[in-house]
Amino acid sequence: MTMLHTRALSIVLFLVSFVAIVFYSSHEKSLTICTTHVEHVHRDREPSTSSIHTIDEHDTVNHPQNRISFRLHSPDVISPPFQFLSVPGYTCPPSIAPLPPAVDHPTILNFTTTIETDLKVLFVGDSIMQQFAQSFYSSVLIHASANTSFGSKQYVWGGKDGRHVILRAFINGAIPELSGLHVCSSLSGPVQGGGIVGYYRLLDLPNREGRRQYVYCKNEKGWSWGDVREFLDFTVEEDGEVVPAKPLVRANSTHDSPQTTWYKSQLTSEGNTTNRSKTQTVGSFNAIVIRPPGPGWMKLHEITRERIIESIQLLHELFAVETVILTTLAFNNNVVTSRDWKDMLAVNQMIREVAAHWDNVVSGVKFVLVQDFAAFTNEILWMNGRHLGYNVCSSLTMQPRTYDTIPAEWANEGPMFLLHRIAMREWKFNPSIPMVCNTPPVCVSFATTLPNGTTVKDINELCVMNITADKSQCFFNRFSRDGMHWCVETVGPRFSGSVACLLGCVYNGATYEKYESASYTDKTKIMEGVKECEEECNGRFMSLVPVDEGWLKNNIAVYSKCNHCDV
Ligand SMILES: *[C@@H]1O[C@H](CO)[C@@H](O)[C@H](O)[C@H]1NC(C)=O
Ligand SMILES: *[C@@H]1O[C@H](CO)[C@@H](O)[C@H](O)[C@H]1NC(C)=O
Ligand SMILES: *[C@@H]1O[C@H](CO)[C@@H](O)[C@H](O)[C@H]1NC(C)=O
Ligand SMILES: *[C@@H]1O[C@H](CO)[C@@H](O)[C@H](O)[C@H]1NC(C)=O
Ligand SMILES: *[C@@H]1O[C@H](CO)[C@@H](O)[C@H](O)[C@H]1NC(C)=O
Ligand SMILES: *[C@@H]1O[C@H](CO)[C@@H](O)[C@H](O)[C@H]1NC(C)=O
Ligand SMILES: *[C@@H]1O[C@H](CO)[C@@H](O)[C@H](O)[C@H]1NC(C)=O
Repeated sequence: MTMLHTRALSIVLFLVSFVAIVFYSSHEKSLTICTTHVEHVHRDREPSTSSIHTIDEHDTVNHPQNRISFRLHSPDVISPPFQFLSVPGYTCPPSIAPLPPAVDHPTILNFTTTIETDLKVLFVGDSIMQQFAQSFYSSVLIHASANTSFGSKQYVWGGKDGRHVILRAFINGAIPELSGLHVCSSLSGPVQGGGIVGYYRLLDLPNREGRRQYVYCKNEKGWSWGDVREFLDFTVEEDGEVVPAKPLVRANSTHDSPQTTWYKSQLTSEGNTTNRSKTQTVGSFNAIVIRPPGPGWMKLHEITRERIIESIQLLHELFAVETVILTTLAFNNNVVTSRDWKDMLAVNQMIREVAAHWDNVVSGVKFVLVQDFAAFTNEILWMNGRHLGYNVCSSLTMQPRTYDTIPAEWANEGPMFLLHRIAMREWKFNPSIPMVCNTPPVCVSFATTLPNGTTVKDINELCVMNITADKSQCFFNRFSRDGMHWCVETVGPRFSGSVACLLGCVYNGATYEKYESASYTDKTKIMEGVKECEEECNGRFMSLVPVDEGWLKNNIAVYSKCNHCDV
C-alpha cells in the first residue's frame, strides 16, 4: 500500500542564452545540435495590464484592501522553509550540490517567501502536500521556532506568531529519526495577518462513498466527520503573547501497533482558554489547495473529471470553502511507462479544463483555480535534463499551460529521458535520473567515447550509483531526494508564492464582494479577470522565470489583484 518511499536523493536548472550542446543520438545514428536557452515566456504582458502589484511598506495612502500579500527575501534574511519539515528523508540533505550555474540566481530559485493573510487556508493531500503545507507554515509563522528532537519524541514549536498544532501524526517503526513525523492533520494560527493555515492528509480525492467512522490515516483512504470536526472546532488563541512550546504527547489509537506510534500536540482546548483576551474558533475555511494524490495512492485512471468535481463539492460541504485550488500532477517515480506519462498529461489537461469551465453560479464553490505545479516541475526536469547532458531539445514554451491540445513533439520527449532511472537495489522505486541527479551517475554502457573524445550517451541503459565514488556524483541535487518528494527548501518559496498570488486574484481588492452581488453577466466578466490573474501567477511562480528584482527589495510587499474586477 505504501506508494511513496522515503529514501533520499536531489538537482537544479536554468539555461542561459544559446548554449549549443552537441549530442549524439544512438537511435538516429547522427549528431543533433540541441540549442537551449532561457525561455522568458509569460513575461510579455504590458506592465499596465499586470495583475501583480507592489506596495512600499510606508505607502499607507494607497493601501488596497489586501487579504493576502507576500514578500520575497534573500535566504540570508529569511532562511529557507525547513523549520516545520517533519520527515528528514524528504528534505535536501545537509551536504549537497550547488544549484546548476544557470539557475543559481537570487531571482530564480534562491529567494524565500513570507506571507501575510487573514484568510483560512487548508492544504489537502498526501505526503507531497504535507511537505508544501509545512513549507507554507514557514512563510506565515516567521517568528516561530521549532524544536525537533526525534529521539526523545520531542517535537515542539513556540513563538510570538501563533501556535502550530499537530492534531494527529504517526511515527513508523523503531527508529523515529529515520521515519520522521508523518502528519495526518495540523493547524497553524493565528498566522501573520491573523489567518489560519492547516494540512489534512487525505490519500484519495474525497467523495461521499469514502466516508468512514475512523480513518487509519497512515495508509487508509477516506475521510471522517471526526477529523473534519477536529479542524473546525479548534480554537486559536489571539492574545499576542509568546506561545509556549508544547511537546507532542502519545495519542491513544485503536489502531496502534508496534510499527506505528501515534502522536498529537497538547491541544489548546485542554488548557484554560477562557481567560485569554481573544480566541477564534476555526469554524470554516476560505480556500482549499488540493493535489490529487497520484500517480501513487490513486491510479491515474481513478482521477476522473467526475471524481474531481465531486471532491470540490464535498469539500464545500465539509469546510464551507468558497475557493478550491487544484494542484496539477508532477512527474514522479510512479510514472513507469510512456503511457503513464501521457495519461498524466491528460489528467492535468482535464484538471485545467474543469477549472476553466467551473460553473460558478450554481456550485457552492465559486472559484476553482489551477496551481500549475506540473508545468513548474517540468521546467525543472527539462532544465536539469539538459544540465546532465540529455538530448532534450523541445522548447518549454510548448508544454501545455491551458487545456488546449498537447503538442505531440513535447509529449513524446518526456519519456525519452525522464524514464531513465538510477538503479537502487534496496529501493522499491528507482528514481528518475533527471529528477534526482546533479551530475550524470555512473552507468553501465552509459557512456561511449567517439574517436575525438566526445562522450555519447544512450538513454536506454540503466545506471547504477558508484558507491565507491564521491556521492555528489549523482545524489543530492537541490530538487528531489527520492524521485517522489521535492526539496521544498528550493521549490517551496515559489510554491507558497504562487498560492498567495492565486488567492489574491480572488480575495484582494473588491473582487470577491463584487462577485457576490454581481449579475450573471458581470460574474462571467469577473471570472475572466480572475482567470487572467491566475495565468499570470502560474507564469511567474510556477515556472523558472526570474521574479522581478524589485520584489526582492526590503519593505516591498507584493500582491495580486484581478484587473477591472472592482468596477
Ligand atoms: C543563495 O544565496 C546566498 C546568498 O544570499 C548564498 O550564500 C547561497 O549559497 C545561495 N544558495 C544557493 C543554493 O545557491
Ligand atoms: C529544544 O530541545 C532541547 C533538547 O531537548 C532543549 O535543551 C532546548 O531548550 C529546547 N529549545 C526550545 C526552544 O524549546
Ligand atoms: C489513553 O486511554 C487510557 C484508557 O482509556 C487512559 O487511561 C489514558 O489516560 C489515555 N491517554 C491519553 C494520552 O489520552
Ligand atoms: C489563564 O489561566 C491559567 C490557569 O489559571 C493560567 O495558568 C494562565 O497563565 C492564564 N493565562 C493568562 C493569559 O492569564
Ligand atoms: C480559567 O480562567 C478563568 C478566567 O481567568 C477563571 O475564572 C477560571 O477559574 C479558570 N479555569 C480553570 C479550570 O483554571
Ligand atoms: C567530436 O566530433 C563531433 C562529430 O563530428 C563534433 O560535433 C564534436 O564537436 C567533436 N568534439 C570535439 C571536442 O572536437
Ligand atoms: C567508481 O568510482 C571510483 C572512484 O572514483 C573509480 O575508481 C571506479 O572506477 C568507479 N567505477 C565505475 C564502474 O565507474
